Amino acid sequence: MTDPLIRWRAHAADAVLLDGFHALKHALRFGAEVPVAVATDREAALALAEHLAGDVRDALDALLTEVPGPVYDSLVPRPHPTGVAALAVRPSRAANLRTLARTPRTAPVVVLDDPRNLGNAGAVIRLAAGFGATGVVTTGTLDPWHPTVVRGGAGLHFATAVERLEAGELPAGPMFALDPEGEDIRGVTLPDDAVLAFGSERTGLSAELRARADHLLRLPMRPQVSSYNLATSVAMTLYHWSADPGAHGAP
Ligand SMILES: C[S@@+](CC[C@H](N)C(=O)[O-])C[C@H]1O[C@@H](n2cnc3c(N)ncnc32)[C@H](O)[C@@H]1O
Repeated sequence: MTDPLIRWRAHAADAVLLDGFHALKHALRFGAEVPVAVATDREAALALAEHLAGDVRDALDALLTEVPGPVYDSLVPRPHPTGVAALAVRPSRAANLRTLARTPRTAPVVVLDDPRNLGNAGAVIRLAAGFGATGVVTTGTLDPWHPTVVRGGAGLHFATAVERLEAGELPAGPMFALDPEGEDIRGVTLPDDAVLAFGSERTGLSAELRARADHLLRLPMRPQVSSYNLATSVAMTLYHWSADPGAHGAP
């Protein structure tokens, strides 16, 4: 086997950094191709796997190479408490676009309209993975595969289709856009093929998405409160979809 540092350098430019044990665990569970993984304490990482993730223990045993602390520190921007890091091959855009375009869908697509906060985007990808959403699409300049988003997503970018698209290229399906001025979501059934659109943290929904939306929905909120955080709005909306007995793709 080649030196892990040589493999790391060979993949670093194009690969996705999996920062910490849990990100690596999730990526492996959802089929990521992981060419190199390192740990400052291999035995401790395998013991963690024994305890928390028996399903990927053998895969980790085959993958993990122990490296000294200073070497690990040189590979990651911010050391993780588990001392584990890996590189994964980013899924092809073409495959993600096929997933997003495929109909009929059994679970909604989440659209973030020009999101600005990398942590919010990561939290939304983690939610989408947990609820089994078809994918998360962003418009605007934020890169949903930015390392900080991947860190916030805990390796779950591999569990749902994550891509950036132009507003005019969004997947087909009835669009339900979330806005405090809309109709109360509690009286509405969200179909499996819904496109659920959420506005930017700063400015809310763009005029383009508003024009494309088939329905505007509001989440219950006291009048004195202006809005909820973006990721919590996505959480409530996906929960609302999943709570309907007719939601086929819900966990
Ligand atoms: C932080 S809010 C945007 C606040 C922004 N200042 C504005 O003018 O709308 C981000 C997004 O979360 C969703 N959201 C927040 N609170 C909501 C509510 N009560 N009902 C429906 N959507 C909400 C909307 O999609 C909103 O565009």
